[in-house]
Amino acid sequence: MMLSPLTLTILPFIFLFSACKISSQDVSPGSTLSASNPSQSWNSPNNSFSLSFVQESRDRYFAAVSYNGVPIWKAGGDPGGAVDSSASLQFLANGNLQLVTRTGLDLIWESNTSGLGITSASLDNSGNFVLKNGTRPVWTTFDHPTDTIIPEQNFTTNHVLRCGLYSFRLADSGEISLSWNDSVKYYNTSSWSNSTADLNLTSPRLGLQPVGIFELRDSNLSSPVAISRGNDYGETSGNPWRFVKLDCDGNLRMYSSSSASGRGSKTETWAALEEQCQVFGYCGDLGVCRYDEITGNPTCGCLSENFDLIDTNDARKGCKRKVDLQNCQPTLLTLNHTLFLTSPSEFGTDYFTGSITACSSNCLQDATCIASSSLADGSGVYYMKRSGLISGYQSPTISSTSFMKICGNPEPYPPPSSASEANRKAKRLRIVAIALGIAMALAVLAFAYLWFYNKSRPQYETILPHYSFSDYASGVPLQFSYKELQKETKNFKEKIGGGGFGSVYRGVLPNKIVVAVKQLEGIGQGEKQFRMEVATISSTHHLNLVRLVGFCSEGRHRLLVYEFMKNGSLDSFLFDTEMEPKLDKEVLNWARRYSIALGTAKGITYLHEECRDCILHCDIKPENILLDENYNARISDFGLARLLNLNDHRHRSIITVRGTRGYLAPEWVANLPITSKADVYGYGMVLLEIVSGRRNFEVSAETNQKRFSLWAYEEIEKGNIGAVLDKRLAGDDVDIEQAARLIQVSFWCIQEQPSLRPAMGKVVQMLEGIAEVYKPPPPMAMIGGMLQSGTETAISSSQITAISSLVSES
Ligand SMILES: *[C@@H]1O[C@H](CO)[C@@H](O)[C@H](O)[C@H]1NC(C)=O
Ligand SMILES: *[C@@H]1O[C@H](CO)[C@@H](O)[C@H](O)[C@H]1NC(C)=O
Ligand SMILES: *[C@@H]1O[C@H](CO)[C@@H](O)[C@H](O)[C@H]1NC(C)=O
Ligand SMILES: *[C@@H]1O[C@H](CO)[C@@H](O)[C@H](O)[C@H]1NC(C)=O
Ligand SMILES: *[C@@H]1O[C@H](CO)[C@@H](O)[C@H](O)[C@H]1NC(C)=O
Repeated sequence: MMLSPLTLTILPFIFLFSACKISSQDVSPGSTLSASNPSQSWNSPNNSFSLSFVQESRDRYFAAVSYNGVPIWKAGGDPGGAVDSSASLQFLANGNLQLVTRTGLDLIWESNTSGLGITSASLDNSGNFVLKNGTRPVWTTFDHPTDTIIPEQNFTTNHVLRCGLYSFRLADSGEISLSWNDSVKYYNTSSWSNSTADLNLTSPRLGLQPVGIFELRDSNLSSPVAISRGNDYGETSGNPWRFVKLDCDGNLRMYSSSSASGRGSKTETWAALEEQCQVFGYCGDLGVCRYDEITGNPTCGCLSENFDLIDTNDARKGCKRKVDLQNCQPTLLTLNHTLFLTSPSEFGTDYFTGSITACSSNCLQDATCIASSSLADGSGVYYMKRSGLISGYQSPTISSTSFMKICGNPEPYPPPSSASEANRKAKRLRIVAIALGIAMALAVLAFAYLWFYNKSRPQYETILPHYSFSDYASGVPLQFSYKELQKETKNFKEKIGGGGFGSVYRGVLPNKIVVAVKQLEGIGQGEKQFRMEVATISSTHHLNLVRLVGFCSEGRHRLLVYEFMKNGSLDSFLFDTEMEPKLDKEVLNWARRYSIALGTAKGITYLHEECRDCILHCDIKPENILLDENYNARISDFGLARLLNLNDHRHRSIITVRGTRGYLAPEWVANLPITSKADVYGYGMVLLEIVSGRRNFEVSAETNQKRFSLWAYEEIEKGNIGAVLDKRLAGDDVDIEQAARLIQVSFWCIQEQPSLRPAMGKVVQMLEGIAEVYKPPPPMAMIGGMLQSGTETAISSSQITAISSLVSES
C-alpha cells in the first residue's frame, strides 16, 4: 500500500493524540507502544508511573514501567527483554500483551493472557500494571516481578527476581536467598523450621509515607519477622521513594530515588552483600575478584599469566586457559589469600578436613579435581571443585590458600613496576623494617626476661619453648602436658567454678600469667575431633569472648586453658551463690549492667553470625558470662557444645542436652530442631536477670507462686517497671527508658516459639535503640499451670504448636 504525503504528515499527530488520550485512563485492547517513538507511554492516573520504552544504550531498549525515569519492571526481564528500535509492545484484542521486534516477526515475550476475558489494562497509582476483565485483575506486573520490588508490592514465596543468571527468592521456610544459575546459593538468611505461613516481603507505608524499610511478614504474626532498613530510613526530606532491586552484578540493593535529585537518579542505601567479591560468578569462569587498592572497587582479572581474559573489553566475562588441561600432565598453581567460592548447595564440590598440604596434594593426585581451597581459618576445612564455574576471590584480608590445576609452569603475575608502585613498595618496606626492628627488640627483651626469670626462680628449671612470650601473644593455642597443668594448678587445688562441662581451677603459668584451667568431663570425642574444635575455638577472637590460651589432650584427659577473668562470673553479682551471698558483693550499677547486657549480645552475635563457622553456645547463663577487670562481659564455654555450621544442613545434628535448667529453650525438651534461637532464649533469660537480680525460675509469695519471668510480664503490662528492677538499684541513676527496652527485648527473646525470637544481631540493634522494639506477646502460655513451676517436664511438639497458636492469636 502506498501512503500519500498527507497521511505521512498526519501520522505522528495521530500517534501523539492517541498517546495523550489514553494517559490517565484505561488502555484498550489494540493499543501499541513503539520503541522508535519515545513520546508514547501509558501512564498512571497521577503520572507518577509510566509504561513506555526506555533506552538503555544505543539500540538497547526495554519496555518498562518506570518511576521518575527509573525502570522498575521490564517486559521479558533483563537481559531477556532487551530489544532494538524495531520493537513494539502490543496489547492485542485477544487480551495478550506481547513484546515483538521487526514488526512482529520475533516474539520476545508475552503475558500469555489470551482468552482470559481481558477487556482493558491500566497502570495504577502504586505502579502496578493490571490486565483486567471488567474491573477484576487477571494478570498484574506485581505478580510477575522482574528485578525490582516497590512499596505496596507483595513479594511472596512464589515470586522470583532475576537478572541474568542471578536470582532472588523467598522460600516457604522463610529463608531469603540469592543464587547463581538457580543452583549455587551464595547468600541466605536463616530459615525457621516450622513455618507454613503466608510470607510477604513488602515495604509498607506508615501513614502516607513509605519510610524506607522492607519487612518480611508472616500472616500468622502481628509483627514483622525480619526488617532491612536503608541508611536513609525515616528520612522524608526530598520525599524519597524506595525500592529493592536485584542488580545484574548479583547483589540485592535498596535504593532511594527522588525527583529532587534529578530524573533517573537513584542512591544505594543498603546491600545484601557488603562485599561484592563474595558474589558467586561475579568475575565469570576462572576469573578472580579483587578490590582495587586505591578506589576500593571490585575488579575482575585472571589468576596468573597461565590465563587470558575472554574479552579484554569486559573482564567480567571471565578467563580461559592458554593451554587446555586435557593436553598435559597438570601442575598446581598456588594462590595465597585466595578462595574459590562455593556453597554446600553446589554440585561437584566435596568437603574434607586436613592441612593445606593435604589440600594441594590430594587435588593434584585426583584426576577429577580442578581446583581446591583450604579455608585456613582454624577449622581445617578444605574443598575440591570437580565441575562447574570457578569463581575466585583474592584479598590480603582472607586467610585461605587455593590451588588451581594448570598446564606448564606456574606464571604468577610480575610485581607491578610503575614509579608510584615502586614508591609505595619502598614505603611499605620501610614500615616492615621498622616493625621487624621493634619485634626483634621485643624478642630480645623477652628472652632477657625469661633468662633472668629462669635464674631467679630455679624451681622451674625448664621453660619449654611453647611457653615463650611470643607464642602466647600470637594467638595459636599452646599445647600443655597433663603434668604441667597439674603443677600449674597446684594439683587442681583452687577451684573457681563448675558447670555443665566440668570444673575450673586457677593456675599460674611459669611466665606468671594467671589462667583458668577447665577439666572437661565426659567428652566422648576422639583426639582428632577435639583438636579440630580447639582450633576453631581459638580462631574466634572477640572483645566479648574469653580467649583460649591452650589445651591438653592426653589419654583420657581433656583440658582447656583460658585467660583468667579477675571479676569472676556474672551470677555472683546477681544472686546468692554457694561461695558468697550477694550482699557481700559490690552492686553493679545500671550503666555497667547495660554494658554487660550489650557486650554479651555482641559476643553471641559474633558466634552466630560473624565467624565463618557458626558456633551455637547452647549453655548461655550468668555462670558462663565472666567479667574482666573493667567489667566487660566475656562469654566462656562457647564451642564446647559442638561445632555447627548453620549454612550446611549436612552438619546439622542434635546436640546432647547439657544446658542448664531455666535457661534451656523449650525446643530442647520438646526434642525439636535446635537453632541459634535456642541461644537467644538463654540470652533473654540472662537479660531479664541482669535487670532484676533474681532468678527467672524462682517462685515466691511475692510473685504469686508464678515463675518470676511470667510474673514480670504481668507487672510490665500494668506499667510497673519498679517491681521488676533489682531493688539494689534503688539509689542508682537508672535510665528507665533503657531499662524498659531491655525488659521488652528479654520478653521477645524468651518466646516459646523460636521463630518469634529475634536473631542476635537484631537484639543488639534493639538494645542500642537502633531498631524499634514492638510490644512482645506473653513469653509463655499462661495456661493451666503448665511450665510454671520451674520444672520443665517434657512437652510434645503438638503442645508447643497449641501454645504458639495461642500466643499468636493474642
Ligand atoms: C469475565 O468476567 C465476566 C463477568 O464477571 C465473566 O462472566 C466471564 O466469565 C469472565 N471471563 C473469563 C474468561 O473469565
Ligand atoms: C500518586 O498517587 C500515589 C498513590 O496514591 C501517591 O503516593 C503519589 O504521591 C501520587 N503522586 C503524585 C505526583 O501526586
Ligand atoms: C499486599 O498484601 C496486603 C496484606 O494482605 C494486602 O492488603 C494488599 O492488597 C496486597 N497488595 C497487593 C497489590 O496485592
Ligand atoms: C546452569 O545450570 C544448567 C543446569 O542446571 C547447566 O546446564 C548450565 O551449563 C549452567 N550454566 C552455566 C553458565 O554454568
Ligand atoms: C501477601 O501477598 C498476597 C498477594 O498479594 C496477599 O494475598 C496476602 O494477603 C499477603 N500476605 C501478607 C501476610 O501480607
